[in-house]
Amino acid sequence: MEQGLLEDEARAGNTAWLTSVRLGRPYVRWKYAATLAAGSRRPTPPAAGSARPSPAPTSKVHAEADAVIVGSGTLRAAPKHLAVRGVAGATQPLRVVVDTDATAVKPGARVLDDAAPTLIAVAEDAGAAHLAETGADVVRLPRAATGLDIHALLAALHARGVRSVLLEGGPTLAGAFVAAGAVDTVTGYLAPVLLGAGPAALATPESPP
Ligand SMILES: NC(=O)c1ccc[n+]([C@@H]2O[C@H](COP(=O)([O-])OP(=O)(O)OC[C@H]3O[C@@H](n4cnc5c(N)ncnc54)[C@H](OP(=O)(O)O)[C@@H]3O)[C@@H](O)[C@H]2O)c1
Repeated sequence: MEQGLLEDEARAGNTAWLTSVRLGRPYVRWKYAATLAAGSRRPTPPAAGSARPSPAPTSKVHAEADAVIVGSGTLRAAPKHLAVRGVAGATQPLRVVVDTDATAVKPGARVLDDAAPTLIAVAEDAGAAHLAETGADVVRLPRAATGLDIHALLAALHARGVRSVLLEGGPTLAGAFVAAGAVDTVTGYLAPVLLGAGPAALATPESPP
């Protein structure tokens, strides 16, 4: 019997699962959108009636993940939905909000609708009683120097069967994942427009957004 046939191709097709087995945590893809000259600023939506870029590439990446993660700062900036739209037959990823003190997700938030399950990660000592009525799952994790312990978050997701995650940001949480050595691949969408200065795509404590 021959062994190792198409080994490289088989590995390439199972990168996320193999990484999760090898590391005991989900495979992490950090995704961001930016303009050429504006850090992490998203391109301005086109005017009504003009041609829109296809959402397919981002939706496909989204639908391939078992979970999608955002930081509390992203949710405070704008109400997010985070469910997959426009991909026929897609399995909805678990929506995960990293909300240390349980202050960003309020009852009635878009991320709590019934389009997909939601998990809110809070600190072990956070006052999160108000989240009980939302129907979301809540996981309590140790604090880190800033926010929550990233490795504990990934371990909690792995224990729930999550093998791949799409890290949607924002820049501060993405910086924490990179600092923790917990980003396996980066997918950047660069729009070929110039919008001037904007926040950095990745932030660190030394270089905040
Ligand atoms: N261009 C893009 O692709 C993209 C993507 C997403 C967001 N954004 C933009 O980014 C902006 C928000 O950025 P942001 O950096 O303020 O928000 P963020 O990265 O979504 O959230 C940062 C917050 O996450 C919490 N957190 C929990 N654990 C953490 C840890 N270990 N390390 C660091 N933070 C941790 C902290 O708040 P608590 O401790 O209070 O929970 C922290 O302030 C918005 O304007 C949004 O539109 C852009």
